[in-house]
Amino acid sequence: MAKDPVRVLVTGAAGQIGYALVPMIARGVMLGPDQPIILHMLDIPPAAEALNGVKMELVDAAFPLLKGVVATTDVVEACKGVNIAIMVGGFPRKEGMERKDVMSKNVSIYKSQASALEEHAAKDLKVLVVANPANTNALILKEFAPSIPEKNITCLTRLDHNRALGQIAERLGAQVSSVKNVIIWGNHSSTQYPDVSHAVVATEHGEEPVTKLVGDDAWLRGDFISTVQQRGAAIIKARKLSSALSAASSACDHIRDWVLGTPKGTWVSMGVYSDGSYDVPPGLIYSYPVTCENGNWSIVQGLSVDDFSRKKLVATADELTEEKAMAYSCISS
Ligand code: NAD
Ligand code: LMR
Repeated sequence: MAKDPVRVLVTGAAGQIGYALVPMIARGVMLGPDQPIILHMLDIPPAAEALNGVKMELVDAAFPLLKGVVATTDVVEACKGVNIAIMVGGFPRKEGMERKDVMSKNVSIYKSQASALEEHAAKDLKVLVVANPANTNALILKEFAPSIPEKNITCLTRLDHNRALGQIAERLGAQVSSVKNVIIWGNHSSTQYPDVSHAVVATEHGEEPVTKLVGDDAWLRGDFISTVQQRGAAIIKARKLSSALSAASSACDHIRDWVLGTPKGTWVSMGVYSDGSYDVPPGLIYSYPVTCENGNWSIVQGLSVDDFSRKKLVATADELTEEKAMAYSCISS
C-alpha cells in the first residue's frame, strides 16, 4: 500500500541551497524512494517571483514522488501540518564575515518562525536548522517554541562530518564510503573540533583505525583539523557564494539517518540539545556523535576524550555559550 505523503518545509527555498535541496527531496534522496512528499517552500516577498519559478521547475521535472507543492511567503501557510522543517532561510555569510556577523539578522527570524512552527506544524515535527549561526538559531528556535520537544530540534553539522570523511579518504586514497565514525564536536564554525580518534576505515584486513593508517599525528592534529574548520570559508572564497550542493546533500543525509536510522556500528554528527554529556554545559545545541533508531537520536556515550580533545571540546562549547548570550542581547535590543 502506498505511504501517506510527508510534508517537508524548506525555508529560504528560493535561495541557492534551496534550489539544490528541493529536487533532492522530491527525488526521494531524503526520505527514500517509496515516500511521497508534499513540499512546502517559504521565502520572503522580494523572492516571491523566484520562488514561483522554482515551483514551475518542480512541476516541469515531473517527480513521481511529489504529490503537491505549497510555495508561499506566508509563514503560517508554510508551516501548516509540516512533519519535517529544513530551516535554510536567512542571510548567508559573505567573504570576510564571521558567523557572528550574521547573528543579529538571523536569530530574530528564528524567534518568530519558532512560534509559527509551534502553532501550525504537525505534532511529530522534526526540525533541522541549516542557516547560520546554525547551532544558535536552533537554540533560539527551541527556546521560543517550548512545546516542541527539544529532541526534535537539531542543527546541521553533517556537512562538516562529511568534509572530514572526504579529507581522510583523499589522504589515504580510499573510498569515502570505507571511512566512518569521525566526530564533529561543538559549533558549526571555525571552533568546531573534527575528531578522528575513534574513526575507522574498512580495509581487506577489517576495520582499521584512521590514526594508524594515516600515521601522521602532526597532520591529523594540524592541517586536517584546520582544513575542515575552514572549509566553508574556502568555498566562499572560491565560489563567492557559500556551499550549496554539499550543504543540501548533507541535509538529506541528516534527515535520512534521523528518520530511517544509522547503519549498525556507525555514528554520525548532529547538532543536538546538550544534556551535559562529555561535560559539555547543558542547554546548548552542540554537535555530538549520535546513532539514530526509530526516529530518535541518542548521543554515543563512553568514548575516551584525551587532553588534546578535551581542550577543543571546551573551546567550542565556550564559543557557543558566548553566542547564546549574544543572541539574547540581539533579541532584546
Ligand atoms: P541564499 O541567500 O542563497 O538563500 C537564503 C534564502 O533565505 C533567500 O532566498 C532569502 O530570501 C531567504 N530568506 C531570508 N529571510 C527569510 C525569512 N525570514 N524567511 C524565509 N526565507 C528567508 O543563502 P544560501 O546560500 O542558500 O544559505 C542559506 C543559509 O545556510 C545561510 O545562513 C548560510 O550561511 C547557511 N549555510 C549553512 C551550512 C551548514 O552546514 N550549516 C552550510 C552552508 C550554508
Ligand atoms: C559552510 O560551512 O559551508 C557554511 O556554513 C559557510 C557559511 O558561513 O555560510
